[in-house]
Amino acid sequence: MKLNIAVLAGDGIGPEIMEQGVAVCSAVAQKFGHEVSYRRALIGACAIDAVGTPFPDDTYEACMEADAVLFASIGDPKYDNNPAATVRPEQGLLAMRKRLGLYANIRPVETYECLIHRSPLKDEVVRGADFVCVRELTGGMYFGPKQEPHPNAEGIEEASDSNYYTRPEVERILRVAYQYARQRRGHLTVVDKANVLASSRLWRKVAQEMMGEYPDVETDFMYVDNAAMRMIQDPRHFDVMVTENTFGDILTDEGSVLTGSMGLLPSASTGEHTPVFEPIHGSWPQARGLNIANPLAQILSVAMLYEHFGLLQEGRLIRQAVSASLDANVRTPDIQTDGAPHYGTREVGQWIVEYISSQAS
Ligand code: IPM
Ligand code: MN
Repeated sequence: MKLNIAVLAGDGIGPEIMEQGVAVCSAVAQKFGHEVSYRRALIGACAIDAVGTPFPDDTYEACMEADAVLFASIGDPKYDNNPAATVRPEQGLLAMRKRLGLYANIRPVETYECLIHRSPLKDEVVRGADFVCVRELTGGMYFGPKQEPHPNAEGIEEASDSNYYTRPEVERILRVAYQYARQRRGHLTVVDKANVLASSRLWRKVAQEMMGEYPDVETDFMYVDNAAMRMIQDPRHFDVMVTENTFGDILTDEGSVLTGSMGLLPSASTGEHTPVFEPIHGSWPQARGLNIANPLAQILSVAMLYEHFGLLQEGRLIRQAVSASLDANVRTPDIQTDGAPHYGTREVGQWIVEYISSQAS
């Protein structure tokens, strides 16, 4: 297969983990006889520095012309504590999602037996947890009508965001979630705040109408506050959860730490145009250039990329290589066992590349 991949490394640890993601992508391509080409483009703070905007038109074109986008991370502390900044790196990511129509963000939360002891939860609570969060990605408060902070008629400062959703937006993301539930254990949890929010009542209404079309899937409804609690009390309860943009953002950070490290969770964003594969963690600017960032979420994002194109063996080999590296204790400091030597970002990536290249085809 021929694959043109747009490579958006972004900021912070992005370039370092991307280097390993690309190396793994190429190793797999070579093993299975695929022809992969890469086109690098700017996004985030580095794009603001270079051309003044976080999602330049060149980058948009590179994404639109590619079969897939491999994205790493964006963000820079110089913008974080400056509410007055008018351009922000995050706008680059949001613009990419919106312009590519990536309404479905798939975030699988899986546990690795050898890392369970690193989870803040008791082993017996977290062992075997395995669910997917389907997060709506192009609607809700992120994109609804908003007012930046400004003085109102009485001279009091005010600001607002609107959690705006339309029926078609809700319907299409629920369909994606039902498809996942069908392929998994047949259990879908719709997470909302329908006891308070009108937008959530729309979600619930649409889901209640649709559930009859999926009799093979058991649908249940949960308020988001309860879901946040249930995730730490009994994460195995969940198979597929579906929720709006903001709730999904928050719950997936919670989900990522359940498993013991945020550095391990990949995600896929799909919708109308080119799909994007990216780790769920941020750009960790403090670690930039130190060769300590965990490249596994990026590498697993490459597995999701191959799987998206039906290349399941390719994905499986990457997952197998990642598990083997963990079992061999070839791990970055964030997940290394006490007393065992630390490996750098590059060393973990190289180990995985060598593992892949050395497997019999
Ligand atoms: C994520 C991130 C982004 C989000 C930020 C960087 C805009 O936290 O992908 O979860 O809020 O969606
Ligand atoms: Mn987030």
